[in-house]
Amino acid sequence: MSTKKLIVILGATGNQGGSVAQAFLQEPEWRVRAVTRNPSSAKAQALAAYGVEVVQGDLDSPSTLSLAFENANAIFAVSDFWGLYGDPANAAKAKDQPLNVWAANYETEQLKGVIDAAAKVPTLERFVLSSLSNATKWSKGKYTQVYHFDSKAKAEEYGRKTYPELWKKTSVFQAGFFLSNFVSNPIMQPQITANGVAQFVGHLDPDLKLPFIAAEEDTGLIVRALVKEPAGKNVIGYREWSSLRGLSEAFTEATGVKAECIMLNKGESNIPLPPDLDREMEDNWSYCNEFGYEGRDDPTIVHPKDLDSVPRLDNMVNYFKKQDWSKVLAQDK
Ligand SMILES: NC(=O)c1ccc[n+]([C@@H]2O[C@H](COP(=O)([O-])OP(=O)(O)OC[C@H]3O[C@@H](n4cnc5c(N)ncnc54)[C@H](OP(=O)(O)O)[C@@H]3O)[C@@H](O)[C@H]2O)c1
Repeated sequence: MSTKKLIVILGATGNQGGSVAQAFLQEPEWRVRAVTRNPSSAKAQALAAYGVEVVQGDLDSPSTLSLAFENANAIFAVSDFWGLYGDPANAAKAKDQPLNVWAANYETEQLKGVIDAAAKVPTLERFVLSSLSNATKWSKGKYTQVYHFDSKAKAEEYGRKTYPELWKKTSVFQAGFFLSNFVSNPIMQPQITANGVAQFVGHLDPDLKLPFIAAEEDTGLIVRALVKEPAGKNVIGYREWSSLRGLSEAFTEATGVKAECIMLNKGESNIPLPPDLDREMEDNWSYCNEFGYEGRDDPTIVHPKDLDSVPRLDNMVNYFKKQDWSKVLAQDK
């Protein structure tokens, strides 16, 4: 039997979990088990080629989670709101509810199942949950429709209340605003004007300080610190604490393309969204503008620089330099 410690990673074929897998593959005293719905997918096979033990598991099937968590010393748990929201098969399941409300409730239940299974693992020393701030709570009930934040925070609350013993071993990782959004998400990609200027258009105050993370690179380095340090941390994960204006300057430095920020008024929109998502994102942007992405009144929040072993993270300019902007820059004027 291996004397190495075992970390079991949910979402290992994705951004956050994939980064955690890469970070622990560098640790000689750890072995890595990845949980995926489909062990024969290209991403799962790529993990196996790195020496990761790939097992089948599904957030919808608690028995597969119990099996996957066997002998774990650490578990990294992440859920996928946008996968649930974007899966056409789920539209019918939502029935009379808006799809985002359904997806959020479903995500909370999935995470509760993960927490139930983790609480039963006798070997477990550290549980790290990928969560987000409780927008309803930290906005004092003003913004109640940031469902994809609250869904995770509700599961976190469930774990804290239901399993005090598990929570003594738990740290929370809040993923910051993914930099990849600006590369590939049509809602956030810069728009190119006829003069070739990249405009970052949206409802965020351009001077609001935000936690920007390259989730696929940085998550693992932060989570590795959380696993090695005493539990009880609630870290907002980011590589740069900057503003949209700062981000647009980083974009210019990386690409040589002039950039500017345009803040839309409430109700104005540059990209049409389904009505439920439109309402959610309006609350999301307003929540960030007024109360901070991380819920700045949350007294438990710590920053990467506050960790015992501060992770060495790269900057936004270098991230943007590595991206393929050709499609974004070739937008129809
Ligand atoms: N975009 C942002 O700025 C931002 C910021 C903070 C937090 N987030 C949150 O990040 C989360 C997504 O994380 P990500 O980007 O790391 O993931 P991702 O790259 O979108 O990949 C999704 C992962 O979830 C796994 N998964 C999905 N459904 C599953 C199920 N039923 N059972 C087992 N595994 C399942 C997938 O594994 P398989 O397909 O291999 O099974 C895959 O590894 C979302 O909940 C989102 O709200 C996003």
